[in-house]
Amino acid sequence: MTDRPTTDRRTTGAGRTAGPRTTAAPVTGHLTSDDLRRRALDALTTARERTAHLTGCVDDHDLTAQHSPLMSPLVWDLAHIGNQEEQWLLRTVGGREALRPEIDSVYDAFEHPRAVRPTLPLLAPAEARRYASDVRGRVLDILAATELEGRPLVDSAFAFGMIAQHEQQHDETMLITHQLRTGPAVLTAPEPPRGSAAGLPPEVLVPGGPFTMGTSTEPWALDNERPAHRRTVPAFFLDTVPVTCGAYLAFIEDGGYRDPRWWAPEGFGQIRQHGITAPLFWRHEGGQWLRRRFGVSEPVPLDEPVLHVSWYEADAYARWAGRRLPTEAEWEKAARHDEDAGRSRRYPWGDDDPTPGHANLGQRHLRPAPAGSYPRGASPLGVHQLIGDVWEWTSSDFLPYPGFTAFPYREYSEVFFGSAHKVLRGGSFGVDAVACRGTFRNWDLPVRRQIFAGFRTARDAGEAPGGHA
Ligand code: AVJ
Ligand code: FE
Repeated sequence: MTDRPTTDRRTTGAGRTAGPRTTAAPVTGHLTSDDLRRRALDALTTARERTAHLTGCVDDHDLTAQHSPLMSPLVWDLAHIGNQEEQWLLRTVGGREALRPEIDSVYDAFEHPRAVRPTLPLLAPAEARRYASDVRGRVLDILAATELEGRPLVDSAFAFGMIAQHEQQHDETMLITHQLRTGPAVLTAPEPPRGSAAGLPPEVLVPGGPFTMGTSTEPWALDNERPAHRRTVPAFFLDTVPVTCGAYLAFIEDGGYRDPRWWAPEGFGQIRQHGITAPLFWRHEGGQWLRRRFGVSEPVPLDEPVLHVSWYEADAYARWAGRRLPTEAEWEKAARHDEDAGRSRRYPWGDDDPTPGHANLGQRHLRPAPAGSYPRGASPLGVHQLIGDVWEWTSSDFLPYPGFTAFPYREYSEVFFGSAHKVLRGGSFGVDAVACRGTFRNWDLPVRRQIFAGFRTARDAGEAPGGHA
């Protein structure tokens, strides 16, 4: 294997990496300043269309209601999106005077936990919409006028990309709120493609050895994805596709939720305390397993990746199956490492940005696609659906990479590092491509079930497969 440092070849050069520029191009790789401005504008516009859709399909009562103590009222997310954009793009990048400094504290996620946000003096829906749109109007002028190099915050249009990602992350959060909301359906979307995993081997061998994890060159990668560094991962087997509802049902029907042997003690405590016997939104009725999905009840689809399981449920399933969750490094190696080229790529399929043929992203479909539905998105080793469909729990705690520096603020990642949060990888149908890539890291508490999370399992190479699966 060729051992050389990572090269995300489309995006070498600027960002925070020093180095000589050999061409007249003012920016990264093939991207000119105009390209970057267009990309930033596209990303911001796509995010705002999604935000408008998610907040425009319900009435004002619904926007201000709290659908679950785990979530903010939708109208809080809306104004928080505008406020973050005001703080970073209007004030910090643009150097403009604050538009509404008096509301900063109301929309500070650290000052007020989600459960109490309905009691805050929130902007009313019409006011929140006007505020977000006033900020955006000014930001578009700033984008047109700002030199996109020379300052870490604006190099490669980073701050604009960061704010577009922030809005898309809240769009996924708002989609979760929609899923928790009871009442008739308000969201609809076309069905995802329908492939099958029937012809695929159940697992893939990922050879041992070093690979490059993280990135120092991806222009809009967030601080926790940096810097690129070498990791050595022993050989392991990884599931070809995420664990399906059908496979998960075998665990349920084998009494998996009643047997403490499979569970981390805190996980068994949680399912006992809350009477959990199946994934969130599932119920057993008339001899059939049903689930509620965006206001509609439907039979649990057996060939679809399982969704709405906690880390504890994923961990217990894996133990029952005689397997384990993959580490975060294993997941990233399977998703990015190209053995022949001896380098890490941006995505499982290569370096090209995701298209609808590669992965189920961006709320185009409001559910995961059946296992095996995205053959064009497979990795060189033949691992499918690593990107899109469901966030995948890993066994790893959310920790900084060696050489991590918080940028541009500690509260994005640094304050969450430690053993309380587990890492999720790969993105769900609910997140946009701008906030999802081979290096992207998400994290949450191991008890969380409302997020669009599933998992796949792994085992050490050299061990015989065991268990019941
Ligand atoms: C990366 C999804 C865990 O929603 O808490 C949004 C993203 N950070 N606003 C979150 C985020 C600040 C974050 N996650
Ligand atoms: Fe936020």
